[in-house]
Amino acid sequence: MENEFNPFFVSGYRGAEYFCDRENETLKLKQHIANGKNTTVFAIRRIGKTGLIQHVFSSFINKPKVVCIYVDILGTKNILEFTNQLATAIYNRFPENNSIGKKIMSAIRLLRPLISFDTLSGSPELSFSLGNEKLYETTIAQLFGFLDAQNIKVVFAIDEFQQILAYPEQNTEAILRTHIQQLKNTQFIFCGSDQKLMHEIFNTAKRPFFASCTSMSLGFIEFEVYAQFIKGVFEKHKRKISEEAISYVLNFTKQHTFYTQYLCNFLFALTKKSIKLIDVQFSIKEIFLQNESIYYQYKNLLTEAQWKLLRAIAKEDRLTNPHSRGFIEKYKLGTSSMVTRGMEALLAKEMIYQNAGVEKAYYEVYDKFLMRWLQYK
Ligand SMILES: Nc1ncnc2c1ncn2[C@@H]1O[C@H](COP(=O)(O)OP(=O)(O)OP(=O)(O)O)[C@@H](O)[C@H]1O
Ligand SMILES: [Mg+2]
Repeated sequence: MENEFNPFFVSGYRGAEYFCDRENETLKLKQHIANGKNTTVFAIRRIGKTGLIQHVFSSFINKPKVVCIYVDILGTKNILEFTNQLATAIYNRFPENNSIGKKIMSAIRLLRPLISFDTLSGSPELSFSLGNEKLYETTIAQLFGFLDAQNIKVVFAIDEFQQILAYPEQNTEAILRTHIQQLKNTQFIFCGSDQKLMHEIFNTAKRPFFASCTSMSLGFIEFEVYAQFIKGVFEKHKRKISEEAISYVLNFTKQHTFYTQYLCNFLFALTKKSIKLIDVQFSIKEIFLQNESIYYQYKNLLTEAQWKLLRAIAKEDRLTNPHSRGFIEKYKLGTSSMVTRGMEALLAKEMIYQNAGVEKAYYEVYDKFLMRWLQYK
């Protein structure tokens, strides 16, 4: 049992067996791919956007006519780094021992990239030294162009796409949009953890990407479905977890994927044959202890009024009207304009988020462990 791996993953994607549900979303994304639609995935942080893309891509592994390429651009600071990341992803995706791979490699080599190797993973990394902006543009166009000209369907997922807004080059969106529009066999999935910036790119009428994609939103996994998954994973590893324990977990994390996975990972790591409610409560206390210093850091980074407001929102669980007199008086939050300023600050710092995709929009503390910790304090 000592060396048994933990099947509740808290990073990356490890196959359908450890992936809960998302059947409708998977089907929809596949339909978009089949029908040549570019898609944007909108969702709050840590809900499973990247996981969903990896899940969809894994289903194309044995289909040589569809090539899926995942590019995470979070670490890129400008359009040159974007180009390098794109080229590296393409380079690493095509094995040179097949005919398309050979063609792509020789086409990429014509662009004279420098090929180095990542010191940790040992995988190749490509970089170009391009003197001016026109050259980036040509290189990006050529990279997309090579692939598009092959007799295959290519699907690019560009994750953390909002990062392009941080580039010093103001015209990145226009450049990308122009070249993407010209491709015939290539589809895109855009995804990003910063919802506000993603909306800015795709839903602002005067911006290049406006109305260029079909949007898709990703919500919480349903309670019953997640409960069955958790039970099933424990059983597969010859362990048990009580229904009471599962319900407690899902209520505690509000089915927010990352926090649910994290708590289940913790429970699994207890290596007990049978998990009961008391084990969940013990694990929660441990997680609080582990994170407490971070929570106090948050407290020091916020003003007293902001911290008080954050606690009040946590205590409400879901807050529908921050300006109601009842709420302000209950927690002694001062004036309505103080609350407005506080809400703005907490939203900007991503301590809270607004779920506006439901009939009655509400605010909630982002980090479910912090939310519960504030409630218990
Ligand atoms: N359907 C799922 N079943 C099981 N685990 C999942 C599922 N979706 C995501 N996860 C896990 O939850 C965690 C968060 O998922 P992921 O990184 O995909 O979220 P994200 O929405 O892309 O987050 P971010 O906003 O930070 O980019 C990861 O550890 C991932 O392994
Ligand atoms: Mg992600």
